[in-house]
Amino acid sequence: MSKNLVPFLENAYQDENAIAFSLEPNATVKEFEHLLGKQSEIIDVGCGEGQNALYLAKQGYCNVDAFDISEHGIAKLRQRCEREGVQLNAFTADLKMFSFEQQYDMILSFGTLHFVPKADWKAFINRAKAHTTIGGIHIMQLFTDTVPASEDIAPFAVGLAKDGELKELYNDWEILQFKSYTFEDEHPGVPKHLHASNKIVARRTL
Ligand SMILES: C[S@@+](CC[C@H](N)C(=O)[O-])C[C@H]1O[C@@H](n2cnc3c(N)ncnc32)[C@H](O)[C@@H]1O
Repeated sequence: MSKNLVPFLENAYQDENAIAFSLEPNATVKEFEHLLGKQSEIIDVGCGEGQNALYLAKQGYCNVDAFDISEHGIAKLRQRCEREGVQLNAFTADLKMFSFEQQYDMILSFGTLHFVPKADWKAFINRAKAHTTIGGIHIMQLFTDTVPASEDIAPFAVGLAKDGELKELYNDWEILQFKSYTFEDEHPGVPKHLHASNKIVARRTL
């Protein structure tokens, strides 16, 4: 297995009956989707099997892009779209190399950035900021080193942030929400464990 692919996620993506995380979108997506119009250009970075992208497309947002490094994750998202009669543009890509070809009104990423080295996720966020429309929104959530990475992801979580480091990248944007928190997590085949996380919702003003 490639060093970029997390085994418990890959196993869940390859099993059509398994759900890696949830079929429900992240609550923050629901909380801030009112800032979007149905024509808004949206991209979900490290979408996995697509709980957030699929939700947005099902809500009638018709320009949803979603990418992940995992071919199995993207294949599963495409199957789910087909089964549910939903249209979105899902593709494989590595965020380290990803170059934006258009401006977006919302760029979201949940639980993904810490899987690449810090310099890479910081460079990615700067590219993403430059490819966001004025008034556009970022929702970014990543793990911090406030608690050690859990066993299942430790070898892969090469870019854990320092608490507050994510927020510093947005000091020229309007911060709509910033949260630093720990939470208990559980996945198929992985016992309960703790994660420390930072989440930001920020708006480009200039
Ligand atoms: C914890 S999962 C989160 C999936 C999804 N965002 C969600 O909330 O359900 C992290 C995802 O990041 C993806 N990933 C890891 N490294 C990546 C990279 N360099 N580029 C794109 N995706 C990556 C993994 O394949 C995995 O699907």
